[in-house]
Amino acid sequence: MSAPLLPSLREAYQPYFDVGVAVDLRDLVPGYTDLLAEHYSSVTAENAMKPAWIQPEEGRFVFDEADAVAAVAANNGQRLYGHTMIWHHQTPAWMFLGPDGLPLTASAADRRLLYQRAERHLAALADHFGDQVWAWEVANETVDEDEPDGLRRTPWRMVLGEDYLLQLFRIARQVAPRACLVLNDFETERPAKREAFARVLRRLLDSGADVDAVGHQMHLTLSSPTEEVEATLETFSHLGIDQVVTELDVSISRTPDESLPRVPAQRLVEQAEYYARLFSAFRSQSRTLRCVTLWGLADSHSWLRYWPAIRLHEAPLLFDDRLQPKDAFWGIATPADVRER
Ligand code: XIL
Repeated sequence: MSAPLLPSLREAYQPYFDVGVAVDLRDLVPGYTDLLAEHYSSVTAENAMKPAWIQPEEGRFVFDEADAVAAVAANNGQRLYGHTMIWHHQTPAWMFLGPDGLPLTASAADRRLLYQRAERHLAALADHFGDQVWAWEVANETVDEDEPDGLRRTPWRMVLGEDYLLQLFRIARQVAPRACLVLNDFETERPAKREAFARVLRRLLDSGADVDAVGHQMHLTLSSPTEEVEATLETFSHLGIDQVVTELDVSISRTPDESLPRVPAQRLVEQAEYYARLFSAFRSQSRTLRCVTLWGLADSHSWLRYWPAIRLHEAPLLFDDRLQPKDAFWGIATPADVRER
């Protein structure tokens, strides 16, 4: 493999922020694990720590897949970004059903039951992974700019009420006193979403919530303006908390359902320029930006090949199907970075 000749991303960005990557079980094979060990200092389980994996039935905790990821990371001296404690997707149906099999309501009894379940789930995660997890994503995708309180109407919000995030962060702090506690969301680079998210966060912080960092998923495309990404990082840099980029990829499709026979070479050049601009924006926000995590090791394993449509041409990451560095890799790991320091 040519890996030893490449600059290590982790080392190149060491003066600025940590570089992380999401991995799944299928990444824990030779070649992929070489890239993992070489370039990253933080590891996210792409799926294995989600509620549906961890507690598929009430009281039955399954850590096998997450443990496999954690063991490889530990062997590389890497810490974990815990994705995710509370979400409405990829969460088992039982979580939101009462003992009678009916959906939980906003009654006091149902609220108590759902808080008990949240406490048990969060405590199990925190106890099991301990200090290997440097940051816990306490909640994912909770903001909806069209709601008066800015909070998405998930079962969590509906049952627990308007102050539920404050309570969930209180529970998270109890079970994981040393972890960086994150509130994460998608499309935070869109102005309306950015403003709603900032309002939700300011309100939480004003009410004393233990939020240590804001998480930006950043599933971007070649037409997502990097100026908006910059505006987002700048806006959140004034809240007195840290920032993390949690799920970065840059789709090369022009439309969500575009289907091409192969990767157009010109798009990869555009993508390299895009990544270069993006990482330059990231570097300029290194005061509050702690970690930038790529959503996958190589194009061959990207979720965008299958979502939101089958698109076998998708190539949103830094390494190609043969695990070779793409122009995008060179766009962010070039000597220009070294000169700039
Ligand atoms: C995706 C994974 O990449 C896929 O493997 C899985 O099938 C679906 O979920 N936002 C999130 C991530 O917070 O958990 C999602 O991950 C991508 C969108």
